[in-house]
Amino acid sequence: MQIQEPPPRNEAGEFTTPFEWMGGEVRVHALAERFYDLMDLEPGYRELRATHGSTLDGARQKLFWFLCGWLGGPQHYVERFGHPRLRMRHMPFAIGILERDQWLACMDQAMGDVGVDPALRERLRQSFFQTADWMRNTP
Ligand code: HEM
Repeated sequence: MQIQEPPPRNEAGEFTTPFEWMGGEVRVHALAERFYDLMDLEPGYRELRATHGSTLDGARQKLFWFLCGWLGGPQHYVERFGHPRLRMRHMPFAIGILERDQWLACMDQAMGDVGVDPALRERLRQSFFQTADWMRNTP
């Protein structure tokens, strides 16, 4: 039988990174999957979905790799593609307030669906806002 290592915690008993708090790769993967499933399914994210191509497969994979590193876990994205330069990589897509808010709502719904700890969810909601707002490139 394989013995599972408990997630690393500091002396105060707190998780050392949001990645560990989230529950590691399995949970981050579930979050990225749910995010894109919702984007595909929910009429409220229609405009956000429309900025993407016909398939979301590449985006799913890349968001999962990116989020692992962004949350303080393995740097899968950087190892493959170098520095994320997210604002630059989003320049081909028109991102205004509507797209930003749909992205944030979709991510928040996904966090709820996969059961992210409410305290972590609140923190991430703020961090995602900073990142998504900085991605705006259209009035
Ligand atoms: C603000 C609204 C946003 C819109 C409309 C948007 C839209 C898109 C689109 C259309 C793609 C291309 C997908 C593909 O390759 O098929 C993409 C890629 C990506 N997005 Fe976003 N995005 C937004 C915000 C964010 C945020 C806040 C993050 C991170 C927290 C993020 C992370 C990524 C990553 C990592 C990729 C892959 C980049 C690459 O290597 O090509 N996006 N996004």
